[in-house]
Amino acid sequence: MAVKTNERRVQEIITSIATKEGEGFSIRRPFPTRERSYIDPFLLLDHMEPVELGPGEAKGAPHHPHRGFETVTYMLEGKMIHEDSAGHGGEIGPGDVQWMTAGRGVIHSEMPSPFLFEKGGRLHGFQLWVNLPADKKMMAPRYQEIKSAAIPEAVSADGKVSAKVIAGTLFGVTAQIDTVIPITYLHLRLQPGAAVQIPVTEGDTAFAYVITGAGSFGSESQQSTAGADQLVLFGNTGDIATISNAAASGELSVLFLAGKPLNEPVARYGPFVMNTPAQIEQAVRDYQNGSLA
Ligand code: FE2
Repeated sequence: MAVKTNERRVQEIITSIATKEGEGFSIRRPFPTRERSYIDPFLLLDHMEPVELGPGEAKGAPHHPHRGFETVTYMLEGKMIHEDSAGHGGEIGPGDVQWMTAGRGVIHSEMPSPFLFEKGGRLHGFQLWVNLPADKKMMAPRYQEIKSAAIPEAVSADGKVSAKVIAGTLFGVTAQIDTVIPITYLHLRLQPGAAVQIPVTEGDTAFAYVITGAGSFGSESQQSTAGADQLVLFGNTGDIATISNAAASGELSVLFLAGKPLNEPVARYGPFVMNTPAQIEQAVRDYQNGSLA
């Protein structure tokens, strides 16, 4: 592959931290951490690691509020059931995506399916939080639910790279999901020896998260390798993010995210993400007095 002068360099490799969420289900979280509150415009990435759960072991996140941002759930294995204060509900199964814009407020629960709870089984998925710009934080809540079969798949000319296009465009294939700010969300699979050059807007944030396999990231003159549970943060200079499968055998499975940084103040308190402490206090009051959603 020829050297591209506009290829992005890797700025940092972040190893995700094992932690617990909701009722105590295990996740890996590259951010937020004590050192890093967010990667503008992204506020959180949780990896529900692939685990084999026994009967009665599955745990979820019972009723809780959100305001001021979007939660994006992408399941790989198992099923989650969600329901909210507005009577909206459904299930998110393998390969499905739920892009929920909480806007001014949603109170919802995210629980494993009753079947998974009773019989046990595998659960594997991701939740990403995307910030909303100041003037959209109080927009009406919106759901976009896309079943696996409806998520377009992009394949490279050599057939060695395939991608589920959850948001944005790759190889001329454009996602169904409409995002409030420009976001690219891809689930890429690279065969051994394969490489992909993903177009990114100059100045936009871009990172990759390795699910399985080992990858090489960045420009040919400065390549970094990363493996499972590591997040590769690209520098924001350049308009191509290069990812290749560094392993002699085995697929590289990786999420790729890019988005326009908001460059606005972030005030966050648990499930509320606003611009000022006063807006956070208002969100807490609205939740307590029942007017959040
Ligand atoms: Fe939630």
